[in-house]
Amino acid sequence: MKRFLKHSFCGLISLFAVFFIVSGFGLKAKEEKPDKVYLFAYSTVKNNGKNGLHFAWSTDQKNWFAIGPEFSFLKSDFGSWGPTGKSMSEPFLIKDNAGIFHCFWSVKDNVFAHSESKDLVNWGRQNYIQGMKNFVGKGEDKSVIENVQISQKEGQYLVHFSESGKKYYARTKDFKIYSSSIEDTNSPQNLRSEITIQGEVLQGTLHQVEWSLVDNMIRNMESVKFRDKKDNTSPKSDSLMFVGLKPVKAEIKINGQESKKISNMLTGVFFEDINYAADGGLYGELIQNRDFEYSLNDKKGRDEKWNATMAWSGDFKIAKENPIHANNPNYAVISKGSISNSGFDGIAVKANEKYDFSVFAKGTKATVRLKSSNGEILAEAIFSPTTSWKKLNVVLKPTKTVKDAHLEISTSGETAVDMVSLFPQKTFKNRKNGLRLDLADAIADMHPKFVRFPGGCVAHGDGLHNIYKWKNTIGPLESRIGMRNIWGYHQSMGLGYFEYFQFCEDLGAEAVPVLAAGVPCQNSSDGGSGQQFGIPMEDMDEYVQDVLDLIEYANGSVNTTWGKKRAEAGHPKPFNLKYVGIGNEDLISDVFEERYRMIVKAVQQKYPEIIVIGTVGPFFEGTDYNEGWRIADDLKLPIVDEHYYQSPGWFINNQNFYDSYDRSKSKVYLGEYASRGNKFYNALSEALYLTGVERNGDVVTMASYAPLLAREKHTQWNPDLIYFNGDEIKPTVNYFVQKLYGQNPGDYYIESAVKLSDSNDEVSKRIAVSVVKDNASGDLIVKLVNALPVAVTPSVAISNFSTTENATYTILAGNPENTTARPVTQKISTKEAFSKELPPYSFAVIRIKTK
Ligand code: AHR
Repeated sequence: MKRFLKHSFCGLISLFAVFFIVSGFGLKAKEEKPDKVYLFAYSTVKNNGKNGLHFAWSTDQKNWFAIGPEFSFLKSDFGSWGPTGKSMSEPFLIKDNAGIFHCFWSVKDNVFAHSESKDLVNWGRQNYIQGMKNFVGKGEDKSVIENVQISQKEGQYLVHFSESGKKYYARTKDFKIYSSSIEDTNSPQNLRSEITIQGEVLQGTLHQVEWSLVDNMIRNMESVKFRDKKDNTSPKSDSLMFVGLKPVKAEIKINGQESKKISNMLTGVFFEDINYAADGGLYGELIQNRDFEYSLNDKKGRDEKWNATMAWSGDFKIAKENPIHANNPNYAVISKGSISNSGFDGIAVKANEKYDFSVFAKGTKATVRLKSSNGEILAEAIFSPTTSWKKLNVVLKPTKTVKDAHLEISTSGETAVDMVSLFPQKTFKNRKNGLRLDLADAIADMHPKFVRFPGGCVAHGDGLHNIYKWKNTIGPLESRIGMRNIWGYHQSMGLGYFEYFQFCEDLGAEAVPVLAAGVPCQNSSDGGSGQQFGIPMEDMDEYVQDVLDLIEYANGSVNTTWGKKRAEAGHPKPFNLKYVGIGNEDLISDVFEERYRMIVKAVQQKYPEIIVIGTVGPFFEGTDYNEGWRIADDLKLPIVDEHYYQSPGWFINNQNFYDSYDRSKSKVYLGEYASRGNKFYNALSEALYLTGVERNGDVVTMASYAPLLAREKHTQWNPDLIYFNGDEIKPTVNYFVQKLYGQNPGDYYIESAVKLSDSNDEVSKRIAVSVVKDNASGDLIVKLVNALPVAVTPSVAISNFSTTENATYTILAGNPENTTARPVTQKISTKEAFSKELPPYSFAVIRIKTK
């Protein structure tokens, strides 16, 4: 139903498209078209071959009309986002005996890709099929499949391809199970054709099809283009669209009798270790590479400076004999001299505050100093190691506030050091190994109801070997196993699963750990053939057990294996974990589904009380979304995780996205969303959209803007919610929208009706109202959004609800290009609040005490 309604909306858009078609060459085509036409399937090398599958049609095989012309009917999802990934070359389309189209293509790797479709518009899941499983190349040889072609013989299909210069074929009956590859002594002639469109010679496959099929493809292409155009709004387009618009009057009637229960945990945070969000970010450690474990591999060998000495300088060498822990093999030996660490772009310290320095050391007595960039000593202490490894602690109290200090250790003899650490004593809730106070406070101010961690893509990793393993992140710091972060740096795991759970508890937020579904990120570029093929099935039992062990670690009694480890870390009481996410916006392939079902079932069986959150791909529509929902329906998952990063216009135009969702199916966790910008226009489009999320709080249970944190100069992804450097935090305007929603949640959604003095649809979709009642305070909360360049004068009337005359009125307003708007709060009378003019581009939150 949900999807039917959405498609009928698309249908409406298609009507507009028909108008264009009927008025252009389409009419000509309509008059002349026979029942059948020729259809040509091809790809081009434009955009590095990433534009996917294209089509052209013709009635006579002479005059060809490209549909689009670069319109992508199917895009390859194979490989990484790099220059060669996601490319489609030599697509080969075939229609099987049952009338289903199959598209095969080469992906610059030793697999060929396949997807199928009935109508060439909606495509099934993509699968990547290994060609020569036993290819033995010389050292650096990379096996690449090319020239995939399909022929038919004796009721079977033969998939021909060449690999490393040799020709092979594999047999299949159903495009699912393939024989192993056989050398192709009798390889078929070229099964591809050639056409010319506007002088460009294109290679592809030629088909004869019903006109209605092509007609539908054209309508679809037009409707997608129309929609994209509509979503492409900006403050500039507003000034054209709303030229001459007069201030708008809005009569708002709130009916206290019509209400529904909604989720009271709609606002939470998405924490991923991206943009240095953990090390160099929320994790309070001030020393970079404290354990000398950075490695060339963190940056795939592309940066020689990124090695065990990264962030260190001075008179030392890296040694490995007799390390402090087998998981921490490197340490530094300082000989009659000093070693210095520059932290993360300098160490920011505050005058007269205390900093805990600790180090594992052996050898000669040494001095530790905090020094400013001009060499001034800000703090100093002596530590005296013995001949064997021992952890030593001293407190440093700098005399000055500086943002770019460095830490120096000097010795007149030979001193070995490892796990060199400096933490401010003032951390969030004063925890040891704690979190940076200003950042954690900014998060706490949002009143998040949940925290998702550790990603994002970090959770499923870049390649099989890079899947995040929670067990590597607990226990004594020196025993944790750091690894390459998918975003191109090193993660120390100092901020590990124990600290995440502790943070959630300190915030009073639910923990939402997300674990890989037995497959790495579909954008993986590391290890093997780009796209990975999932944890081998023979290793899956162990992986499933890891997932189950996590729940025991969080909730098990101190007498259980993993509950005991939690207790040893200082938390005998269970963390009361309720949610577990399986998968992160994965490509829904057969390989994925097999592993995903296995993990979900195991969790459901052993821990039926745990709420499993499934995944439905990276977009709000398309194959992964549909296939993910199909599996969720089948597994009757309680919640699925939706992700979408879209333009502000998309958020403005899709406020009704969840209105048509089927209430009997899985609920939604909108786990990642953002409107691609940090201007006030973006923030306001998110505020508008969230009124729709609140209205649908009976189906959307949680929502988190993503990503959360970004360190300046180390940002891999924009936009983010809070930027920061060593000593400052810079919340964005989007942050203040999130904070206003987080601080003003409701348990009940109260119906309201809005009547505007202007009936233009573009005007009405830019004015939104959401009314909720918060059980804890008993307050009625009215949110009003005005995303128009003119003022809106509301007149709010409430029936069937007893409110007092005391209102708190918060307004966030500004120029749409602005990045510095901040909310301003005042106490006013309810009457005044209900008629107070909303300035152009503004978001108001009115909080009223009820009687
Ligand atoms: O939020 C940044 C990234 O966006 C996440 O890691 C991933 O899940 C999504 O593609």
